[in-house]
Amino acid sequence: MYGQIVLFHADWVADGGSNRRFGYLRGMDSRKRLLLGQRLNYLRHGNFHGVSANWLAKQTDGLFSGVKELVASSDIPLAISQQDIAAGEKLFKQIVEDRSGSNFGKNFDCEVGLASFLYAFILSSKPKIIIETGVANGITTNIILRALEETGGTLHSFDVDPRTQNVYKGTGNWNFHLLEGNFERDLEDQVTQVGKVDLWIHDSNHGYQWQAFEYNLAIAALNPDGLIVSDDIDSSTAWGLASQKSFKKSFGVFDQRKFFGVATI
Ligand SMILES: C[S@@+](CC[C@H](N)C(=O)[O-])C[C@H]1O[C@@H](n2cnc3c(N)ncnc32)[C@H](O)[C@@H]1O
Repeated sequence: MYGQIVLFHADWVADGGSNRRFGYLRGMDSRKRLLLGQRLNYLRHGNFHGVSANWLAKQTDGLFSGVKELVASSDIPLAISQQDIAAGEKLFKQIVEDRSGSNFGKNFDCEVGLASFLYAFILSSKPKIIIETGVANGITTNIILRALEETGGTLHSFDVDPRTQNVYKGTGNWNFHLLEGNFERDLEDQVTQVGKVDLWIHDSNHGYQWQAFEYNLAIAALNPDGLIVSDDIDSSTAWGLASQKSFKKSFGVFDQRKFFGVATI
């Protein structure tokens, strides 16, 4: 089957992507043709399918059932207090009440685990420069900035949708960056101008290609003791593969209906 896919792919590329030369596929039953199309798509674009918790558990240094469990037992040294996690959970509820649905549907919002982790981590580690990608209704943006209002430090948020520049009204140091044109190139250029980063949070495009690109960019931009955090690590193979290849230590945390990841580089 695989040999057939490669041949099909080589033919397809040689033919400039048209289907003219695939007379021999006409006799193939529709299910086989569908499977072949899916595999071809995989070869051309990478894996956009979600992964199982079982697979993630094998790829990472461990999965946890919640933030408290991560903090209590991981070997990433996280001096996070349970009190700050509880305060983060409370704040998350207020911010969701205030902002959810303001730009995008509620399903765009992050969940309580990621929000409370970010809040408590920033209070304890006091990162100076933070990058986040993916703003939407601004749940992560507001929770991060509420912590930064106390610790000082700057958040740079990147999004492709100009509506998202309206999400924060407080006094924290916030820089919104709109991505335009070639998003990868634009993000790379703008991140270079930001300089070294202490904490990078991915919550934007959760397809394999963008996640893999962004994790590599984050690794290059982060200080050696920096932390990378990503929502939706189960939505593609990117986090699991980076855990094997590029991250020093990597963990997954189950939130309400999906996993977020935390890794050192
Ligand atoms: C899941 S939502 C972000 C949720 C937000 N972090 C929160 O907790 O409220 C995804 C956001 O990513 C943005 N987005 C999509 N592709 C992007 C890209 N390539 N770079 C940056 N942002 C992107 C969308 O416009 C959307 O605002």
